[in-house]
Amino acid sequence: MPEQEIIRDTRTVRADRAAIAEGARILAAGGLVAFPTETVYGLGADATNGAAVARLYAAKGRPTFNPLIVHVADRAAAQRLGKFDAAAGALAAALWPGPLTLVLPKTDDCPVAELATAGLDTIAVRMPNHPVARTLIEAAGRPLVAPSANRSGHVSPTIAAHVAADLGGRIDLILDAGPTPVGVESTIVACTSGQPVLLRPGGIARAAIEQILGRPLGEPAPARADAPQAPGMLASHYAPATRLRLDADNVEPHEALLAFGPSVPSRAANAVAVLNLSRAADLVEAAANLFAHLRALDRAGARVIAVMPVPREGLGEAINDRLARAATPRQSNARA
Ligand code: TXA
Ligand code: MG
Repeated sequence: MPEQEIIRDTRTVRADRAAIAEGARILAAGGLVAFPTETVYGLGADATNGAAVARLYAAKGRPTFNPLIVHVADRAAAQRLGKFDAAAGALAAALWPGPLTLVLPKTDDCPVAELATAGLDTIAVRMPNHPVARTLIEAAGRPLVAPSANRSGHVSPTIAAHVAADLGGRIDLILDAGPTPVGVESTIVACTSGQPVLLRPGGIARAAIEQILGRPLGEPAPARADAPQAPGMLASHYAPATRLRLDADNVEPHEALLAFGPSVPSRAANAVAVLNLSRAADLVEAAANLFAHLRALDRAGARVIAVMPVPREGLGEAINDRLARAATPRQSNARA
């Protein structure tokens, strides 16, 4: 699509009742509206409108083989889209609304545009737990696709200004409700084969899911960069432009430091900029700060961002997953 076709006047407005109602009207007319969820800001479009979904892919610059999550306001709407087995039903009952996405077999009369599911016979469904997201979906009266509201390959936005920086001029409206509380994207679990499989660690820790299931989650097949049939598992994602050096216990000259916890790495005085994910070593706080700190350090003019180790328990699994993806050299065509 030629660039001029996606140039728009993008307004950022406080997400009050009137603004949400306007957002719902824009969505119903096939437009693009960014809105807060409890995880990160999403870029919404009418999931049942193929042309709107096509515009959304163009605005993000996203490879169309990477399918989207469909957001709903209630369980009945979810059941019109995907088939719930016992495990999916138990997870939805316990964790919705909340930062959990379920990949389910599509229903036979699923109204979602083929483009949104990239031609797969499965569909990713999520019921967000943010008052603005829920009110917007209800007011729009239809399911909304909502990938993270960033240009493809950038880190996800946790404040409205991140959305404006990435998508200003390409979308219709940004609903601003301040920082998103969780800070990393939803946990994605596939319930398509009897054994639930963790596709993406995220805002709900693995242990919480396994406790509800009463058994361990399965692991997906290993990632292959050239395998669009394994969406969500592409190795390079969420990448800042500056290279990351993980598990750093020192700071080299010209490096910025992404710290975690109260301790100071050796030669910390070298750092051209320092941000701490959580001085108290609180993983929930660290998740909420992760993407904003990566964006800020990316602008610090450092040659490399040195990242201190973050423990892998709880939300630390999702934080380490995003850091590993951000540190993986980019592939030209494989981002979300
Ligand atoms: O927290 C979130 O989930 C945020 C907020 C805005 O809701 N959304 C989000 O969407 O992270 P996105 O598009 O950035 O990531 C969706 C992921 C992709 O990795 C995609 O490949 C995967 O979900 N996905 C979507 N449909 C799938 C399917 N049928 N099977 C496997 N993976 C799927
Ligand atoms: Mg994304």
